[in-house]
Amino acid sequence: MRRITWAEYTALDVAQRIPFLAKDAAAEHEPFHVLYAQQFTRQMLDELCALADHIRRLHKTPEGAAFLQTLLPNRAALNLFAQPSTRTFMSFQAAEMRLGMQITDIRDMATSSQAKGESLQNSVRTFSSYVDLMVMRHPDRGAAELAAYEMNMAERRIPVINGGSGQDQHPTQALLDIYTLQKALDEIDGKKIAMVGDLLRGRTVRSLSYLMKNYKGVELFYVAPDRLRIGDDIKAFLKRQHIRYSELDNLEEIVPVVDAIYMTRIQWEWDKAAGATVGGEGQYDPRFVFRREYLDRMKKKSCLMHPLPKINEIDPELDYIEDPRIVYWRQERNGMWIRAALIARIFDVDKKIFSCRT
Ligand code: NCD
Repeated sequence: MRRITWAEYTALDVAQRIPFLAKDAAAEHEPFHVLYAQQFTRQMLDELCALADHIRRLHKTPEGAAFLQTLLPNRAALNLFAQPSTRTFMSFQAAEMRLGMQITDIRDMATSSQAKGESLQNSVRTFSSYVDLMVMRHPDRGAAELAAYEMNMAERRIPVINGGSGQDQHPTQALLDIYTLQKALDEIDGKKIAMVGDLLRGRTVRSLSYLMKNYKGVELFYVAPDRLRIGDDIKAFLKRQHIRYSELDNLEEIVPVVDAIYMTRIQWEWDKAAGATVGGEGQYDPRFVFRREYLDRMKKKSCLMHPLPKINEIDPELDYIEDPRIVYWRQERNGMWIRAALIARIFDVDKKIFSCRT
């Protein structure tokens, strides 16, 4: 690994940073640290989805589940979640458990020496003395990046997986979204996908948009209130990648047109953190709500997704309707399997898994 100062590193653009996140110089596209959706190639995505399917199948039998337990028994994972989390935290834990890892959690930085003034860099080095993998969710967009950089400089380089970095990215959510899209639609090439809600602060939509570079002929529809429209950086990226997109302020008109609808909640917490007193939670703009009757207007083969948690942007009645197009609860479970696949790949046990046919 070429040594580089933090100032030099942060002066690089994302594409230039990717080699520093790789396993070694010989395998530039083999992620070791996972910080950005842009790190993933089409081949890698296809392989991870296939690996997730295989792990899932193995886990269905007691012999297969027992085999998975033998893979990483001497490896420990730290799940450091300095921001609220239910699914990402639990699914990483479940994925690690299924691969036989040992697990430590930190869910409140006030319980670590950071409360005494220790720098994040020094804390991260300390963690690397005791564990072999760090999954990190943090409100600051650069925290996982700083942790990965620190690991590159430390005596013991352990992988850092970004479990959500402020308003910026959530690459493993994007992996499970791809896995879900592929399962629901059979293929992603040529599909029309709508993303709805808080597209400004929602990191899942940002990461998923970046992954679209790997698919041919995709068309995106961004549906958001005016003040929460998708960022200019994403639009510039889509233009560079020749991905078609449009911006709308109403969900209803595109319901019959698209193959996938990806709903998101409005993230009021960022307004509150910025000192706003707006209590908009109660009154939700109906133009960005998926109503019960929209289901009847969706294509026969299509899917309704949500990274969750959902608040009031999907009619709650949909939770009680059996329809193969309502996939968000399945999407949540897909997260555990694709995260297990990612960890298996990082620790080089993927081939061992593929060769197990119990
Ligand atoms: C999302 C997140 O944390 O970015 N949740 C998740 O990880 N599934 C979406 C959200 O909080 O709205």
